Amino acid sequence: MLLKTSLSALRWSAPEHHVTDEKIYLNRRAFLQAGIGASLVGVSSVVLANPYRADGAQASVAPAWFQQKADAIQWRAVATDEALTPFNDAARYNNFYEFGTDKGDPARLAQSLQPEPWSVLIDGAVAKPGKVGLEDLLAPHALQERIYRLRCVEAWSMVIPWLGIPLADILKRVEPTAKAKYVRFETLVDPEQMPAQRSAFGLIKWPYVEGLRIDEAMHPLTILAVGMYGRVLPKQNGAPLRLVVPWKYGFKSIKSIVRISLLEKPPRTTWQSLAPDEYGFYANVNPAVSHPRWSQASERRLPSSLFNPNRMDTQPFNGYADEVASLYGGMDLAVHY
Ligand code: MTE
Repeated sequence: MLLKTSLSALRWSAPEHHVTDEKIYLNRRAFLQAGIGASLVGVSSVVLANPYRADGAQASVAPAWFQQKADAIQWRAVATDEALTPFNDAARYNNFYEFGTDKGDPARLAQSLQPEPWSVLIDGAVAKPGKVGLEDLLAPHALQERIYRLRCVEAWSMVIPWLGIPLADILKRVEPTAKAKYVRFETLVDPEQMPAQRSAFGLIKWPYVEGLRIDEAMHPLTILAVGMYGRVLPKQNGAPLRLVVPWKYGFKSIKSIVRISLLEKPPRTTWQSLAPDEYGFYANVNPAVSHPRWSQASERRLPSSLFNPNRMDTQPFNGYADEVASLYGGMDLAVHY
């Protein structure tokens, strides 16, 4: 357990508000009122400074494709008025079972991951299938900063400023056919880079697989992230390319993606295969439906400690109900958990 009480002193809420003009700082209410599309269009015409410059993020080593995109980043394209989780928590308290099951394992062991060169196979029900290099995949798109809550099914949460692009923008380029009802995502399998894949005793059958319904995948909140906190994605957070679906439990946000397949039938996902009674395909954050072994009514917002547990109520759809609840009209969410 790497959390320390002293980390709470590093909360970024104050500096963040100082560097960001109030008029262009889109808080959650403005975001809801304007609608997602409108707020994104609004912010893209405004040039914001990199809010992490003072933090030394610019000094970190980044691949050429990231540096080329850095000047055109749309900062705060979606924001929140909640305090950001300090970078050191987000990058040291991780779930990435390819590197071990302890929260500190990924930060310690993921340095063996090689995110360059990287390519992604896009196949299945699309008019333009193919394997594409990461640089080409990202080339036509400006990076947007999306500050989202991340709620893990284990009942802890963070607020993370991702850098990424809407998944819909990528899917539109490959032209899904009428048969494309679901999207399946797959993580790299390479036991040389991922030590837990070398173990003969692991529970998970690699690759780690996740899936979305096509309308969830096309929703404007769903992104493919390549960075966070103004810098390229750390290896332990799923470099170089991961999914982020903020209204679903964190296990849906699959890391280090090498394959995206458009399918007619729902894919079988990793956690569903391991424990179908505990982890469903939808995995929408839902305080009203308990995990069989614990309640989902509240969460520990990191950093948290024994004396400052920082516990708060969990919100339906992780607080994004206004944007996404309509995707599930008429569905019993206790059945489709
Ligand atoms: N993706 C892969 N490939 N392997 C994993 O073990 N863990 C998931 C998700 N994506 C996981 C993964 C879980 S359970 C969570 S909560 C988030 O990643 C954690 O993301 P973070 O470590 O960046 O906070």
